[in-house]
Amino acid sequence: MKRFLDKGWQDSMRITFDFNNMMFESLGEQGFKWEQIEELDPVLKRAAASMEAKRKAGGMAWRELPYNQGEIVQDIINTAEEIKSKFDNFVVLGIGGSALGPIAVQQALNHIYYNELPKEKRGGYPRLYVVDNVDPERMEGLFDIIDLEKTVFNVITKSGSTSETMAQFLIITSLLKDRLGENYKDHIIATTDKEKGNLIKIAKEEGLKTYYIPDGVGGRFSELCPVGLLAAAACGINIEELLAGAAYMDDIVSQRDPYKNPAYMAATLQYLAMETGKNISVIMPYADSLKYMADWYAQLCAESLGKRFDTEGNEVFVGQTPVKALGVTDQHSQIQLYTEGPFDKVVTFLGVGNYRAEMKISEGYEDIPAVSFLGGHTMNQLIHAEQLATEYALLKAGRLNNTITLPEVNAFTLGQLLYFFEVQTAFAGELLNIDAFDQPGVEEGKNATYALLGRPGYQDKKAELDARPKKKDRYII
Ligand code: PA5
Repeated sequence: MKRFLDKGWQDSMRITFDFNNMMFESLGEQGFKWEQIEELDPVLKRAAASMEAKRKAGGMAWRELPYNQGEIVQDIINTAEEIKSKFDNFVVLGIGGSALGPIAVQQALNHIYYNELPKEKRGGYPRLYVVDNVDPERMEGLFDIIDLEKTVFNVITKSGSTSETMAQFLIITSLLKDRLGENYKDHIIATTDKEKGNLIKIAKEEGLKTYYIPDGVGGRFSELCPVGLLAAAACGINIEELLAGAAYMDDIVSQRDPYKNPAYMAATLQYLAMETGKNISVIMPYADSLKYMADWYAQLCAESLGKRFDTEGNEVFVGQTPVKALGVTDQHSQIQLYTEGPFDKVVTFLGVGNYRAEMKISEGYEDIPAVSFLGGHTMNQLIHAEQLATEYALLKAGRLNNTITLPEVNAFTLGQLLYFFEVQTAFAGELLNIDAFDQPGVEEGKNATYALLGRPGYQDKKAELDARPKKKDRYII
């Protein structure tokens, strides 16, 4: 039996949410009293009911991804095997929600130096590159390390029109056509909306292999659909286990009672924090494998919850600024500020029970006890101790912090974590009474880019830009 189907194994891999250090009993006056949460009871109940109603009405399609992709998952697994037999490199062309998930999942679940490993140590799977920018140096650099003939490109864009992604697509298709003629098609897979946008038109006309991003699944909520699943499977990640982890978490975070629902509780505490001016949300994994989960979380938090208007059109200007930190590295750069600076943050630690390696610290320098005390311990003990020590330093300084612990990092726990944060974010959106699924601020920048580069239909936007205040030389020194 596959381990992710075994209930005992699943329960042993349940991730936990510890919010002791958000509470008055532990933290003192900066912490929240249980009564404060109870006072919110009607709001929480309304938010929970709204989550359920929206899901029932099909308004949260991303929540069904663990269940409704049987055929697609099989197709992706088969495609991944084909890719493995033909290609050395798998390159994602995409940005934002079409890139951060694939990066985070790869970093978490594959060897930390995956791309540097020889092919046999990668299980025969291709290297993965995610080109999520339009920096010409990076693009040119890519061509120095990949052989186009041994590379497949997965162009991912929900809207099918994002300038960055379409620019990359234009460059790649032109190069491939020059080199391979008609065979270029075998080197491109499009992942996009099934009807809307330009990419689907091109894909249909040119007969490209295509995966669809389901309706109602927006960029930052799309990691568990083909956006993330193809790149993961192509690099040997067990996507069935990833989805099983998400389904397992869905059971936990579908409980209406916020006192039993860790995602609802996490959102509630962040909501209370925002009400008291803690408008910075620091995410601090204590594992290099989870480093890019912080990037993924940062987008989810910023783009979903940073909003000017509530659902009634009132100006509210809400949202926490996400900050990424890495334990223990950033203990030596940011923690000073977090313990002694302004009381404006909530720190969320991402801890790991068992790391996938154990590294013993060698004995030595017995004549220098301040060094030799480390010998005989393991790095595992050291990193755990440092996480605890930082948590304690924040507690002592009266700083709000909480901890999510993964028993170990694997596809099942990562699926749980992705799903947990998505539900937390959606519930926070309900509490703030905002639309967590739009991104008008991002669209504004996209439209301005179209206008500046002369996209037809954007003349008014161009005129608007041209009318912006002229820069004064005296302010440029
Ligand atoms: O979460 C979002 O919706 C955005 O970050 C998008 O993912 C990002 O702007 C890229 O958009 P698209 O997938 O349409 O190219």
